Amino acid sequence: MLFIGFINFNLLWGYTMKRTEYCGRINKDNIDEQVVLKGWVHRRRDLGNLIFIQLRDREGIIQLVFDPEKCSKEVMECAKLLRSEFVIEVLGKVIARTIENINPEMSTGEFEVLAENLEILNSSELIPFHIDDNVNVSENLRLKYRYLDLRRDFMKDTIWFRYKVLDCIRKFMGEKEFIEIETPFLIKSTPEGARDFVVPSRMHTGKFYALPQSPQLFKQLLMVAAFDKYFQIARCFRDEDARADRQTDFTQLDIEMSFVSQDEIFTLMEDLFKKVFKETMNIDIKTPFDRIDYDISMDKYGSDKPERRYNMFLNDITSLFEKSEFKVFKENIENGGVIKAIVLKGKSTDISRKKVGEYEEFVKKFKAKGLAFVKYENNSFSGGIAKFVEPIKQKFIEMLNLEDKDIVFFGSDSKKIVNNVLGNLRLKLIKEFDLIEDKSVFDFCWVTRFPLFEKDDNGNWIAMHHLFSMPTHDTVEFVDTDPGKVYGQLYDLVINGNEAASGSIRIHNAKLQKKIIGITGMSEKEMEQKFGFLLEAFKYGAPPHGGIAPGIDRLIMIMKGLDNIKDVIAFPKTNNQLCLLTGAPDFLSIEQLNEIGIKMEEKNNGQE
Ligand code: AMO
Ligand code: AMP
Repeated sequence: MLFIGFINFNLLWGYTMKRTEYCGRINKDNIDEQVVLKGWVHRRRDLGNLIFIQLRDREGIIQLVFDPEKCSKEVMECAKLLRSEFVIEVLGKVIARTIENINPEMSTGEFEVLAENLEILNSSELIPFHIDDNVNVSENLRLKYRYLDLRRDFMKDTIWFRYKVLDCIRKFMGEKEFIEIETPFLIKSTPEGARDFVVPSRMHTGKFYALPQSPQLFKQLLMVAAFDKYFQIARCFRDEDARADRQTDFTQLDIEMSFVSQDEIFTLMEDLFKKVFKETMNIDIKTPFDRIDYDISMDKYGSDKPERRYNMFLNDITSLFEKSEFKVFKENIENGGVIKAIVLKGKSTDISRKKVGEYEEFVKKFKAKGLAFVKYENNSFSGGIAKFVEPIKQKFIEMLNLEDKDIVFFGSDSKKIVNNVLGNLRLKLIKEFDLIEDKSVFDFCWVTRFPLFEKDDNGNWIAMHHLFSMPTHDTVEFVDTDPGKVYGQLYDLVINGNEAASGSIRIHNAKLQKKIIGITGMSEKEMEQKFGFLLEAFKYGAPPHGGIAPGIDRLIMIMKGLDNIKDVIAFPKTNNQLCLLTGAPDFLSIEQLNEIGIKMEEKNNGQE
């Protein structure tokens, strides 16, 4: 036999036996059977006379026993060479372990395979970390060696779970008579609020494609094309900072339907989520989901993605402070601002002055000018702005339902800032004090009736979602006079305080579409250049239509109770957009740059 290192040369040509079973599937029906297994050496215990190998494949682990009484000297010699992550093929007999040798921690712990023959299919160098969920490894190392990280149970199970969810979704969409259609990756920019990734065109020097931020315009064109019910498991690309719940390239279940109402889209999604949760996790979720208007959600939770699993609300107490001596609040009210409060129940003694200082620093990130507070203990107020609360004591207690050891935090500013400040502080407190009692509950709700426009930092109107959403019937009249008063037929699906999906009923009328785009200050010329094709398509019998797009990565994260989106993606990027495994992004050669007509500045070209 010819060997390269440990490896039988013949095996390079694939002269191996056919696998008869996966390691992780060995069960009592296999007892006394001869099996051929293939996999990776997980652990090795060499007791001198006996050698035990834990062999791992995608289905799990089984113990192999090499016993000189049961196999040849050559096989024993070969088994001695085995090290972690060697790839091997084993022929052996399945036996039941004696009672004292049963390993209850392994699903195959009642069995082992008595090896008769062994081939080393490939060796492995010393691995940078053990293939074991309990071994603590830095995220960067995991990402650099992602193919090893993916061998670990946690990652393997999550990626399988993701596949099962997608499989269930595809079946559901098929049952509902949707057609899956692929839309292009190299497109003209589709504005969805983030920056585009751009791709230079070689054939049209100086011109660029954009990668789709979503298939939004193509799915609308498919409705004009009369496909009626479209879906796609679509890759989307957005040049934004990755965060715990964001990636630069991510996946949506993209959906569009013609002749559809908001209610029909809600029902479709409720049925879909009901099925997916039942079939992949055996969890019954309650449908229909609650609905909350955007304005109410903002007022009550300070957020358009309300975490509703803990009852701490933002209370408007402006009226109590109208005649207050406290200058900060009084002047704010005189300037049209609001005073709101949140109550942290029963924790006043856990919060030191220093801690309040930390919270004050935290809220400044959301443009708060300060963070007034007061403690309620033994029927009296202390700390912070206690002396200003004294005069309104009784009403204050009643309005906020105060009980002993409550601590109250105040926000005083414009409504928008106060909601944002207290909304974020609320979430921080819920997390810090671990206030959600049952984290296994999945709380679904629709947030509806978003304003169509908001102002950017320069005071210009921009679309809150995107430019293609239909105004509500009762506010469309303000399109010409007061865009701030126009609400859209827009909706988000929120699960446990995360925005899991977003959608709207679309505009299908070219004139209205032009008007809406025009509100953002876009000139006719620019509009024609950017959206001419859509406006043109709307002239030829565009049906009324609408859709939605759940984010698949976020959905898997939420279902699995994870808080890092990278853990549900096979090959994710770091928060600063790097692929540590392949080294992307990378410089191009001078030749490649020349071909696409791009000249780099000296300091940036990365060339020697
Ligand atoms: P939107 O931009 O709200 O809407 O995206 C829809 C959903 O996609 C997910 N998502 C993301 N997931 C991971 N990383 C990201 N960077 C990221 N950005 C968004 C979220 C979000 O709810 N075309 C419209 C949909 C429509 O109107 O039909 C759209 O893309 O879960
Ligand atoms: P001052 O009178 O500015 O020292 O503020 C008294 C208290 O009110 C301090 O605890 C500040 O943090 C708080 N405070 C000041 N401005 C605001 C504001 N806009 N909203 C809430 N609290 C504030």
